[in-house]
Amino acid sequence: MKKVSVLQLVPGMTVAESVLSYDHQLILSKGTILTDKLITKLHLYGVLAINVEEARSAMPVFPDAPEALTVPAEPSYSQRIKNSRSFQLFKQEYELNVESFKGMINNMVERNLKLDVDALLRNALDIIASGRGQIGILDMLQNMRDYDDSTFTHCLNVALISNLFATWLKWSQAEIEMATVCGLLHDIGKLLVPYNIISKPGKLSVEEYAQIKKHPISGYQLLLEQDVHDHVRYSALMHHERCDGTGYPMRLVGKQIDRYACIVAIADVYDAMTASRVYRGPMCPFRVIEIFEAEGFQKYNVEFLLVFLENVVNSYLQNRCRLSDSREGTIIYVNRSKLSRPTVKIGDEYVNIGDHENLTISELL
Ligand SMILES: [Fe+2]
Ligand SMILES: [Fe+2]
Repeated sequence: MKKVSVLQLVPGMTVAESVLSYDHQLILSKGTILTDKLITKLHLYGVLAINVEEARSAMPVFPDAPEALTVPAEPSYSQRIKNSRSFQLFKQEYELNVESFKGMINNMVERNLKLDVDALLRNALDIIASGRGQIGILDMLQNMRDYDDSTFTHCLNVALISNLFATWLKWSQAEIEMATVCGLLHDIGKLLVPYNIISKPGKLSVEEYAQIKKHPISGYQLLLEQDVHDHVRYSALMHHERCDGTGYPMRLVGKQIDRYACIVAIADVYDAMTASRVYRGPMCPFRVIEIFEAEGFQKYNVEFLLVFLENVVNSYLQNRCRLSDSREGTIIYVNRSKLSRPTVKIGDEYVNIGDHENLTISELL
């Protein structure tokens, strides 16, 4: 540990001792990795110097390159991500922003204050910027699954996935930002549903389910009071609509559903399925892709869904995985006609699991 003047701090340094303000409020906790924003915060609080860890870290930090992440007989892919500097920065930024997101939304719902949509968006974009690197946002989110699973984290995840998704669809920067805000606010109506129903781990009664199903309309009504674009209101209202008319609350079909609501719907289901639940652990992304392939093309915008699934699979190329027959290998080629079943290299053998009816990817390693 060494004392360093705030003027000489650089992003990436680790705080060795918690920093308190003159009135004993916590400014930064021990173990925080400094970012430009946090260094500015120290300046604003008038802190002159703080204790930081010596350059040699006690925790092994792995490089981000995917090649380096797939060396066999080493810690698992997930452990390597969790130990990487990029993930630590991402997690820190995520946790900071989820708290301020919570504050802003509660102010709006409980105290009827106006939403600062620009500040909300900046928060989400800050997280994305901190996660920019060789490890993709999906991987980062997959490894955040032990973090508190609330409506707020879900909304933040859907915002990050919608942002990525709009990028994959090659939408303009303004549209990408709009998609991010749509994701952030899509479930805002859930804050008006009694918390014991939202957080109930078991099966919901018919009445409880009916209460939950009101959240798209409540969200839309809340957003009517706010200075947001119609796409944001429609995403709250329509993200549970399905193209075949089986959704709610209005049983809309195909083109009647706002295009932003269509991408939020896919991001929403992807996040819900890959999240861990009390009754099951997080689902392997390839199982989620399989479910989308089985029933998704009637329910979701086909053009959007194909782009989404293909890019999700692409982001897992070179990943180690375990197959349903317990063999382990590396995902090598995407099989475009069966996205959940890529070609996997096992030892020297290339196995196209699309050719083996009973074989699936059961776990990413
Ligand atoms: Fe919802
Ligand atoms: Fe949702």
